[in-house]
Amino acid sequence: MTRTRTPSRAGALATLLLGPVAALAQAMAPAAEPRFSSGWRFEQRSGPAIYGALCAACHMPDGRGAKGAAAYPALQGNPRLAATPYLLHMVVNGNRAMPGFGSQLSDEQVAAVASHVRQRFGGLSEAAARVTPDEVHALRPASAAAPAPPASAAAH
Ligand code: HEC
Repeated sequence: MTRTRTPSRAGALATLLLGPVAALAQAMAPAAEPRFSSGWRFEQRSGPAIYGALCAACHMPDGRGAKGAAAYPALQGNPRLAATPYLLHMVVNGNRAMPGFGSQLSDEQVAAVASHVRQRFGGLSEAAARVTPDEVHALRPASAAAPAPPASAAAH
């Protein structure tokens, strides 16, 4: 897990102070079941990088899925990827054995990985596959609020 480098002591202090606040907020939200420690966020920005870091472990790098303790459906050639709201719901909220990543990914990150899997595995053109952060935002429930922007956001 790569932590964003904080440029100043004030930044480091803010991180120390905000961690427990975030933990408290999560503990108080009954619908939010954090599966990663609070304050965790994924740093990857591009669709392929997010897919590799998050999705590939279960759905396999080539999207063919797997059968083990649970069945991990294939994304390769999966016609359901055409339905953007369904895909966004799965990524943000999860379902049964799939964890939701809404609290660890920004709207931009969810949009990037959704666009990537729709193009790479759903057989859609780049333009047709594209999902916008606004679409993610519109579907995101309050229980899966996006993480606060990283301290390094200004540097991007
Ligand atoms: C811990 C394992 C795991 C991870 C990580 C994971 N998934 Fe899943 N995924 C599953 C399982 C299990 C299901 C079946 C869930 C169900 O029964 O509804 C699933 C279902 C799906 C479906 C629905 C497929 C269908 O045919 O209905 C999509 C789409 C999907 N995942 C995309 C993703 C994406 C994109 C990521 C990365 C952001 C991801 N998953 C990460 C385990 C995982």
